[in-house]
Amino acid sequence: MDRIRIVGGHALNGSIEISGAKNAALPLMIASLLTDEALTLENLPRLADVNLLVRILGNHGVDFSINGKRPGEATIAGQTVHLRAERIVDTTAPYNLVSKMRASFWVVAPLLARMGEARVSLPGGCAIGTRPVDLLLMVLERLGAQVDIESGYVIAKAPRGLKGAEIDFPKVTVGGTHTALMAAALAQGSTVIHNPAREPEIVDLADCLIKMGAKIKGAGSPVIEIEGVGRLGGARHAVLPDRIETGTYAMAVAMTGGDVVLKGARPELLQGALDILGHTGAMVSASDEGLRVRRDGGGIDPVDITTEPFPGFPTDLQAQFMALMTMSQGTSRIRETIFENRFMHVSELTRLGARIRLDGDAAIVQGVERLKGAPVMATDLRASVSLVIAALAAEGETLVNRVYHLDRGFEHLEHKLGQCGAEIERLSNPG
Ligand code: EPZ
Repeated sequence: MDRIRIVGGHALNGSIEISGAKNAALPLMIASLLTDEALTLENLPRLADVNLLVRILGNHGVDFSINGKRPGEATIAGQTVHLRAERIVDTTAPYNLVSKMRASFWVVAPLLARMGEARVSLPGGCAIGTRPVDLLLMVLERLGAQVDIESGYVIAKAPRGLKGAEIDFPKVTVGGTHTALMAAALAQGSTVIHNPAREPEIVDLADCLIKMGAKIKGAGSPVIEIEGVGRLGGARHAVLPDRIETGTYAMAVAMTGGDVVLKGARPELLQGALDILGHTGAMVSASDEGLRVRRDGGGIDPVDITTEPFPGFPTDLQAQFMALMTMSQGTSRIRETIFENRFMHVSELTRLGARIRLDGDAAIVQGVERLKGAPVMATDLRASVSLVIAALAAEGETLVNRVYHLDRGFEHLEHKLGQCGAEIERLSNPG
C-alpha cells in the first residue's frame, strides 16, 4: 500500500491549481441518470471516488467517455467527460459497490424518479459516525414513494411516478437536499423544500439540473421551489472549484508560512473559514487568479470554532484547522456539531507532539512550539490530509499511511505541494 513521506519545515511558496469539487462532481455525475441524453461535465477532478462512481453508474447503464475514449481505453485522466444513460439496464445498486462510497446511495432518487423503482443497498456506518439515511427516505416517501427495507436494501417504488410535496427538513442535510432536488425535478407538480442545505455544491447541482430543463428556484436560500417537468435533457456543465481543497491548502500555508496563490479558487465559497484564518494571523486576499494566502514570521493566534452547515465553518475543514491550531500560541476550542465521531485525527496528531484533549463534542487544543515527524495514519480523507498539513510544519520525517484515503479526495496532492517547495513524495509499497 502506498505511503506519503514528508520532511517538514519548509515554507510553501508558489501557486496551486484548485481542482473541481469532489462533493459537487459526485451528485452531478449521479444526475446523469435522470435523462437519456448526454450530460457533459467539465473540470471533473481525477479522484478515486470519481472512478468508483463511474463503475457504479456503469452498472445502471451509464455510458462514460472522456474526450471520445471509452472506459478501459485510458485511465481517467481527462477533465471533460460525457455520461449518457440512454437506457437504464438495472435499478439495483448492490451492497459491494454502495458500501464503498456513501454518496452512491443518492442514485436512489434519479432511479426512482425516472424508472418508478429503485433497489439500493443501505450504505452502513462509516469512519466519521453512524450517518443514517432516514431523512433521505423521508424525502422519497413525502414525494409519494412506497419505501421498504428488506435484507439491507431500500426498495422504493412509485409505479405511477412521484408527486410534488412540501418537504421540511428537521436537520440540514446535504445528501437529503440532493435527493430531494433530483427526485422532485421529475415529479408531477410542485415541491417546496424548507430548511434545505445551502452548500455551494447544492447550488451547483441545481444549476446543472436547470440546464437540463428542470424548474428550480431558490437553491442556496432557506426555501427551494421546484416545479416538476415530464423529462430532462442533456447539458454541459463545469464542476465548481473545490472549496475544501482550497481551505486545506490555505491552512497548510497558514501553518508553514510562505506565500501561495490558489488559482481558480472562489473565496466566496468559504468566506467564513477564510475570515477565521485571518484571525489566526494569516493574510488572505482575493486575487485576479483566485486566492492569495500568506503568513510571514509572526506566530499563529488561537481561534475557537464550531462546525455548522453552510455558510458556517465546514466540518470538512475541521481536522485541517485543528492541525493548524496545534502550533498556535495559546488554547483553541474546536467544536464538531455535524458528525458525532469526527475526531479520529486527534490521536494521530498527538503522535506528532500535539496537545489535544477531548471534551464531549469539542477538542481543546493547547498549542505547542514544535511538532516532530512520526509514522501516522487516518481513517478518512479529511483526517488524513490534516496529518499531511501537520507533517509539513513538523520537524523531521513523517510517513502517512493509508494514502488511498487521500486519493479519494485530493487530486495530485504531492505534486501540488511539491511544486510549492514541500519535501513530499509517494512511496510505493508493494506489500
Ligand atoms: C455531505 O455528506 C458530504 N459528502 C460530506 O463530505 C460532508 O461532511 C457533509 O455533507 C456535511 O457537509 C458529500 O457531499 C459526498 P449530511 P452527507 O446529510 O450528505 C445527519 C467528505 O469528507 N443525517 O449533510 O452524507 C448526518 O448523520 C464528506 O468529503 C441524518 O441524521 O451529510 C449528519 O449528522 C464526509 N439523517 C448530518 O445529518 C439523514 O438521513 C449532516 O449530514 C441524513 C443525514
